[in-house]
Amino acid sequence: MGAETVVRRADPADAGAIARIHVAAWRLAYREFLPPETLARLSTRDRKRYWREALGSGTGRYLTLVAERAGVLLGFSTIAMRSTAGHEAEITAIYVDPPNWRQGVGTVLLAASLEQARAADADTAVLWVFERNRPAQELYKDFGFAADGETMHHDSGQIALRMSAALDCHPA
Ligand SMILES: CC(C)(COP(=O)(O)OP(=O)(O)OC[C@H]1O[C@@H](n2cnc3c(N)ncnc32)[C@H](O)[C@@H]1OP(=O)(O)O)[C@@H](O)C(=O)NCCC(=O)NCCS
Repeated sequence: MGAETVVRRADPADAGAIARIHVAAWRLAYREFLPPETLARLSTRDRKRYWREALGSGTGRYLTLVAERAGVLLGFSTIAMRSTAGHEAEITAIYVDPPNWRQGVGTVLLAASLEQARAADADTAVLWVFERNRPAQELYKDFGFAADGETMHHDSGQIALRMSAALDCHPA
């Protein structure tokens, strides 16, 4: 039997692995619709610095979780709790290391993030996703998320959609 996938709170020592996954996932998932120069400019070193500070700052508003198996980090997600807007939680990041896509890691991370949001009394979860990022939209739909009509133009020229879910809605 293979090792179990576990989810835990991220700490600053995870910054390097998170940064590597962040950059690798962007480069592969967005290669069809983001300019190559945008993807080439992504820097693991800059991302690592960002994540080390973010994870070390100890602010209560953001919660980053990591999924790991046999001590190897497979993916991460971040949720932001908003005290305004009627107990809304926003999933601000969910990334899985490309060699581990489609093995259920994203599902485990999203389920754990939404559990944290429920535990913090959020009644709605929202997130933004590129219109052309169909795989992620499929994952979100499995958890009851639907496009709610809000859109925004990303700096890259791509359109992002907002998707929302009521948190009494459990995965199908
Ligand atoms: C989106 C992402 C997090 C999904 O993680 P994952 O571990 O591969 O997802 P899972 O294995 O848990 O898949 C769950 C469901 O999502 C959907 N899904 C995932 N990848 C898919 C793909 N390539 N095509 C279609 N549906 C897909 C399916 O419904 C899948 O269920 P199934 O495998 O039973 O059909 C991952 O692909 C990723 O890191 N992508 C790049 C970063 C990204 O787009 N993040 C979201 C930013 S908004």
